[in-house]
Amino acid sequence: MFRKIALSAVSALGLMTGAAFAAGEGRIEDVSFVWEGPFGVFDQHQLQRGLQVFTEVCSGCHGMKFVPIRTLSDDGGPGLPADQVRAYAASLDEVDLPGGETRPREWTDMFPTRSGEGMGPDLSLMAKARAGFHGPYGTGINQLMRGIGGPEYIVSILNGYTGETKEEAGTTFYENHAFPGGWIAMPPPLSDDAVTYQDGHPATLHNMSEDVASFLMWTAEPKLMARKHMGFMAVLFLIGLSALLYLTNKRLWAGVKGRKHA
Ligand code: HEC
Repeated sequence: MFRKIALSAVSALGLMTGAAFAAGEGRIEDVSFVWEGPFGVFDQHQLQRGLQVFTEVCSGCHGMKFVPIRTLSDDGGPGLPADQVRAYAASLDEVDLPGGETRPREWTDMFPTRSGEGMGPDLSLMAKARAGFHGPYGTGINQLMRGIGGPEYIVSILNGYTGETKEEAGTTFYENHAFPGGWIAMPPPLSDDAVTYQDGHPATLHNMSEDVASFLMWTAEPKLMARKHMGFMAVLFLIGLSALLYLTNKRLWAGVKGRKHA
């Protein structure tokens, strides 16, 4: 009941603020990720699917040079067993050494980097580097209600292609109504069944983009769950402390307040 009221209040606010998207910014759809809200936690299976999409599709053009591979086995992350993480690291590009030599990538290394023609920006922190929600009218209420919208921005980009293309100075641009300016140099990376999920989950365009956006939220903020847990414990502690202070105060003044006026 309470949840229902809260939800309809939120969606009413969403309706009020929705109109603000149209003003020149890309069109960003809201997504209810499982890890949102004060008690939301990452879904380990979703993170694993996101890792699969990143590895099989995005990593061809995007690096993640700030993400240590070993964190794939962390609690609160994809939680892969250590031997799988080692094997995964060994399957990635070799590490360049000074002098032109290379060595196999270890799980203590970072994810590979990508640079050069046609390559995209590093994705390690992308989910926190972009704000999907603004306004309305510069107040930032949208961000307060739904987060900064970085992962929503990623989902919207992946789903935002119209199919139109244009050539400019030898580069092909693809029309995308989530990308600021409306034309992006990234060819549409995903379409239905672009990957075959190991857990048998249906690989629709929408599922894949939500999974990879969740995975990128984890790479950008790996301690999200620990932070929420800590916040919750702090609130419990403060409630307990308030109760004790209230009782202490009562006790201290009991002698004075209880006295009959002469
Ligand atoms: C064929 C190469 C290629 C592949 C594959 C690819 N990208 Fe990109 N990506 C690019 C390029 C190039 C850009 C820069 C586009 C621009 O600035 O116009 C880009 C930009 C982006 C941006 C926007 C960054 C910004 O500046 O706002 C996001 C988000 C993104 N890619 C995510 C992904 C994800 C997620 C995948 C995997 C599902 C992926 N990309 C696969 C080449 C690629």
